[in-house]
Amino acid sequence: MTTLITGIAELTTHAEAGILADAALVVGDDGRIAWTGPASRAPDADERVDVGGRAVVPGFVDSHAHLVFAGDRSREFEARMTGTPYSAGGIRTTVAATRAAGDDVLRANLARLTGEMLRQGTTTVECKSGYGLTVADEARALRLAREQVEAVTYLGAHVVPAEYKDRPDAYVDLVKGEMLDACAPYADYADVFCERGAFDEEQTREILTAAREKGLALRLHANQLGNGPGVRLAVEFGAASADHCTFLDAKDVDALAGSETVATLLPGVEFSTRSPYPDARRLIEAGATVAIATDCNPGSCYTNSMPFCIALAVREMRMSPAEALWAATVGGAKALRRTDVGRLGVGARADFAVLDAPSFLHLAYRPGVPLVHRVWKNGTPAP
Ligand code: NIG
Ligand code: FE
Repeated sequence: MTTLITGIAELTTHAEAGILADAALVVGDDGRIAWTGPASRAPDADERVDVGGRAVVPGFVDSHAHLVFAGDRSREFEARMTGTPYSAGGIRTTVAATRAAGDDVLRANLARLTGEMLRQGTTTVECKSGYGLTVADEARALRLAREQVEAVTYLGAHVVPAEYKDRPDAYVDLVKGEMLDACAPYADYADVFCERGAFDEEQTREILTAAREKGLALRLHANQLGNGPGVRLAVEFGAASADHCTFLDAKDVDALAGSETVATLLPGVEFSTRSPYPDARRLIEAGATVAIATDCNPGSCYTNSMPFCIALAVREMRMSPAEALWAATVGGAKALRRTDVGRLGVGARADFAVLDAPSFLHLAYRPGVPLVHRVWKNGTPAP
C-alpha cells in the first residue's frame, strides 16, 4: 500500500528536494519515502492523506539520552536553582534507586519516556545504560533498552560506584573486562564520562580500546564541566560523537573540524544546570558537524523535548532555525552513523512530524507550545 501525503504547506527534506512550499510526498509500501515534490506534480498512490496546510519535517533523531532509571531528583534540581552547583556525584543517587527497581518498573518508565518523545516528534532514540554499574545491572539496562529503542550504548563508565570508591582502577578493570563481555551483545556503542570526578584520560583510553576491540562503535561524554582531554580522545579514537563540548579550547575545535566525529550539543543541560552554553557558532564556523540532542536523564536535564532543545539552540546558542533543525535531524543521524533517518530523501525511512504550524520556523518561534500534530514512523502514523 502506497500513501500520498498532500496539503503540506512546507516540506523540509534535507535531501534532493530541499525545502518546498505546497508539497506532497509518497510513502512506499516498504515504509520508505518513494517520492517528494511539488503538490502539482504528485503521482497517484493507493491512498491519500491530507495534512491540511501544515509543515512537515523529518522525525527528530535524539542521539543522546539516559532513559533506564528509577527515582526522581527534583530536590537536587530545586537545590541547584537556589545556588548549589551541579556535580556528577548525583548519579549515585539514581544508581541506588535503579538497582532497587524491578524490571517492570524500569520498562514502564522507559515506555513513558519514549512515548513522550514520539509524541514530540522524535522517531529515533539512543539510550545509554549507566545507572546500574554492576555486571548484572548494566546488562539488564541494555537488554531493557534494546526492547524499546533502536540505538543502545554501554555506559558502565558513567561514574565509579560507591563500593569501588577506594579502588577506581579495579572498577575500570571490571568495565573493560567482565562487564563489557556481558554488555556488548546488547550494545551498538560504548561511551565513557571523561571528566574530572568521573574517568580520567588513561582510564578512558583503556575502556575505549577494549570496547573497540569488542566491535562497538564509540561515543564520549566530553568537556561538559571543564576543559579536558575528552574531545581530543574522541577524535583520536574515531568516535561517532563527542557529546556536551561545553568547554573547548582552540585545539579541540580544530580536532573536531578536521574529523568525522560529530560535536553533539545538549543545551537542555546548560538550561537545567544554569551553566554557560556551548559555543555552537565557533564549531559551525570552523567546519565541525554539530548535532543537538536532549541528554534526557533524571539529574542534569530532565527534558526529552527536541523542539525545546531546538528553541534553546536558536535563542541561546545563536544557531539559525535551519541549522538547529538540521542538527536535530541529520546531525543526530550522523552522530549515530545512520543514513536512513534524519532526511526525507527517496529511500529514507518515512519518519516525519506534521506540525501545527505553517513552517518549521515555529519550532523556535513558539517555544513550549505543543506543535507536533501527528508523527509518522516507518511509514505509519503513530497512534
Ligand atoms: O550527560 N554527564 C554525565 N551524565 C549525565 C548526567 C547524569 C546524572 O546527573 O544523572 C549527563 O549530563
Ligand atoms: Fe549524558
